Amino acid sequence: MPLNIPTLHRIEELKKASSEVKVFNFHSEEIAKQSEPGQFVMVWDPGIDEIPISIADASPDGEIEVAIADVGDCTHNLHQKHEGDLIGLRGPYGRGFSIDGERICMVAGGYGAAPLKFAAKRAKELDKGVMVLEGARSSAELLYVKEFERIGCEVRIATEDGSEGYKGLITDLLEEMRASGEKFEQVLTCGPELMMRRVCEITRSERIPTQVSVERIVKCGCGACGSCDLGGYRVCKDGPVFNVEELERTEFGNWKREKSGKRISIKPDASALLSIPPSQFTPEYEPLLKTEVCGVNFPNPIANAAGFGVSGKLLYRYAVAGAGAVVTKSVGRYEREGYPNPSFFEISPHSYVNAMGLPNPGIRNYVLEIEDAKHADVPLILSIFGKNVEECREVAEVAVKYPIDMLEFNASCPHTDFVAVENNPKLLSGIIKEIRSIVHPVPIAVKISPNVGDPAGLAMTAEKAGADAITAINTVIARPIDHTLNIPLLGNPTGYGGKSGKDLTVGGKDIIFALYKELKIPVIAVGGIFSAKDVIEYARNGACLFQVGSALVSEGFEIFSCINKDLKAYLVANGYKNIGELMGEAHRR
Ligand SMILES: Cc1cc2nc3c(=O)[nH]c(=O)nc-3n(C[C@H](O)[C@H](O)[C@H](O)COP(=O)(O)O)c2cc1C
Ligand code: FES
Repeated sequence: MPLNIPTLHRIEELKKASSEVKVFNFHSEEIAKQSEPGQFVMVWDPGIDEIPISIADASPDGEIEVAIADVGDCTHNLHQKHEGDLIGLRGPYGRGFSIDGERICMVAGGYGAAPLKFAAKRAKELDKGVMVLEGARSSAELLYVKEFERIGCEVRIATEDGSEGYKGLITDLLEEMRASGEKFEQVLTCGPELMMRRVCEITRSERIPTQVSVERIVKCGCGACGSCDLGGYRVCKDGPVFNVEELERTEFGNWKREKSGKRISIKPDASALLSIPPSQFTPEYEPLLKTEVCGVNFPNPIANAAGFGVSGKLLYRYAVAGAGAVVTKSVGRYEREGYPNPSFFEISPHSYVNAMGLPNPGIRNYVLEIEDAKHADVPLILSIFGKNVEECREVAEVAVKYPIDMLEFNASCPHTDFVAVENNPKLLSGIIKEIRSIVHPVPIAVKISPNVGDPAGLAMTAEKAGADAITAINTVIARPIDHTLNIPLLGNPTGYGGKSGKDLTVGGKDIIFALYKELKIPVIAVGGIFSAKDVIEYARNGACLFQVGSALVSEGFEIFSCINKDLKAYLVANGYKNIGELMGEAHRR
């Protein structure tokens, strides 16, 4: 298990390694013992931000080394630190390199040399031949050249200004070496994306197995939020190292995402920001599990929870993995980049705290994600938010043009300005009436939290205003503190966030019980669902659909098929013909 909460470590050693890079050394047996070449740690500059940094070395006695280039606000601030200062670390995260083949070529661009140094060390320990090709704009930017030589690698340099080694691009040098008959059984690369794309073109024509370390915006670092999306892969969990074949049907080398999730080109010629479409997926409607809610037919009652993914392609993957519906990230009128990191961590086993701050690309830009998600033929629930009637009207007017099956109005994000909606019944009623007047007959579920004194009263207000269903519960307000520095751990300027996962399982079920008792409209359960047992208890308390969020972090995508399989076994063993027969059973005893 990685260390999943930012934990303070002293900078043991700090030295300049190139014109733009400083190397930081820490001591952490917990992280070092688990670290593999290609993995990364989240580095927290307290009160500023938290960023993903590749591990440049980790030794069995607990030494961790990272190389940080001065390329942004947080890295610049880190460059002002001194030995002895405290920095937060969590990790290690992600999938690293797998070393294969007797003679390996490692192609590094700039500070991309850092993870390759760790990989080269591992390869030499395995007695492999390693040639390092390192490129930079000038000799002053070269990183770890002496260290590669000390490990026993052959090193070739290319600089764009010709100040050292070959004059030109490192990819030109790679091509020349291949043309002169140099043979490699594997290529590993890390550096600027367009450089790596060129490396892949060269190695593809020679059919050399190639692994690429990809960089994207990382927020949670452990597969929850989907900010790091690359063609439906989560770079922080499924990567950052990918086999070149995995990248072929992604946007690698063409476009990436901003913090909001909006797509931006990375090529000089701003090419179309479209995805390569996946094949159309049609789910199976199983007699035991299929269900109908608000006039929408669901192949099974298990969906993902809102906020576990921004991209349409990730939602598509959930459907293929067995989700009977998919729920989008909450999308608003305007693009939002969310709060600084730390924005997500594990506060106790399987319980998490997040303050993402509703990052989203804005409802108009979201059309591209809807198009991708619709390649899976399961109901699509669009989650939306807004802080007043006008804003919500504008969102609804765009949303109604999209091919969606249901809207979920998020009235309850506990750590943004938008929470005011949940705390103001008059405003909530006004918004629901307005949205309904625009989107009817598309059903609207209203999502509430346990943070208001009387969730059932609030749900009744929503029902009266025209809500077709209630989703409960959103996260539970929390403000975790680092006790050494006595400052909030979360990057949200107020320090507030919301708790999710196991800590919600018991309370969530109680709230569903209370809602079912008071309401005539259906209730959708979310909060700490980790197993079929949780679904059964929620169903007996009155829920008809079930959303899985935090469990995706620990259980992976298999949770959808596992819950469905265990549910079917339970229904058969207990003589039920359909999941619907369980709904509200606890109230009939
Ligand atoms: C990282 C993260 C992002 C979330 N984003 C949203 C969101 O955009 N909209 C929303 O309605 N709920 C959001 N939630 C709340 C979840 O949808 C869900 O209500 C909550 O996590 C409880 O379910 P769980 O215990 O299964 O995670 C988010 C939760 C997390 C952990
Ligand atoms: S940063 Fe990768 S899923 Fe959150």
